[in-house]
Amino acid sequence: MKVIAHRGFCGEYPENTMISFKKAVEAGCDEIELDVQLTKDNVLVIIHDESIDRVTDGSGNVRDYTFEELRKFNVMATFGDKHGFNPIPSFEEYVSWVKDKNVTTNIELKTGHFYYKELEEKVIDMILAYGIEDKVMFSSFNHLSLSRCKELIPKIECGVLVSKSGIGNQGYYVSKFNFECYHPDIEGLNDDIVEDCKAHNVKLNVWTVNDEAGLKKLYDWGCNGVITDYPGFCKEWLKSQ
Ligand code: G3P
Ligand code: CA
Repeated sequence: MKVIAHRGFCGEYPENTMISFKKAVEAGCDEIELDVQLTKDNVLVIIHDESIDRVTDGSGNVRDYTFEELRKFNVMATFGDKHGFNPIPSFEEYVSWVKDKNVTTNIELKTGHFYYKELEEKVIDMILAYGIEDKVMFSSFNHLSLSRCKELIPKIECGVLVSKSGIGNQGYYVSKFNFECYHPDIEGLNDDIVEDCKAHNVKLNVWTVNDEAGLKKLYDWGCNGVITDYPGFCKEWLKSQ
């Protein structure tokens, strides 16, 4: 089972920052999950929310700031200034760092309330520019956005993100769109869904699992990946099995 570091090592470091990604690699993760959005001047940045209020010392929406303006804010959530100053990374900064690392990346396209129609193209251009197409996958709650990625670059795997309520006919749904993976909330997963995914050859990467009970469930189900805030803990637990 692959250990996927959710927003990096966000259980101990400010989420979606370079320190969080570097610490996730040090903790031995197999893959890093991160969230991508666009600034006012169309720079790809790594941040979860459309607003900067929760995670930084600033306020307002990502799309209303230029990249240069955004860089002045400190990503503090949820650790205050314990880890010093950590700016919002650009996606390019991340890619140029990760290209030589022995980890893959799960790029979540945050094309939610505001649909950035150029986001998929920009992310793909960056992937191709750095030659990391064999080391990435896409995921999104916006399945149209995934579909756009599949059209543009079919060989990159896509994971269908769903909330607790899930969707019906999961395995069929995912395979019908030629996607490869289903990414449910653990709270919405059960034996029937696992069987349905297996029957349709759909891989299961499950979020957000931070304790032994959850890990054991996923392990017993034969899931392909665990998306976690604590990659080191998950690696250790898996080693002990
Ligand atoms: O990839 C799983 C997870 O990242 C989805 O939820 O809100 O953390 O982006 P969220
Ligand atoms: Ca995410």
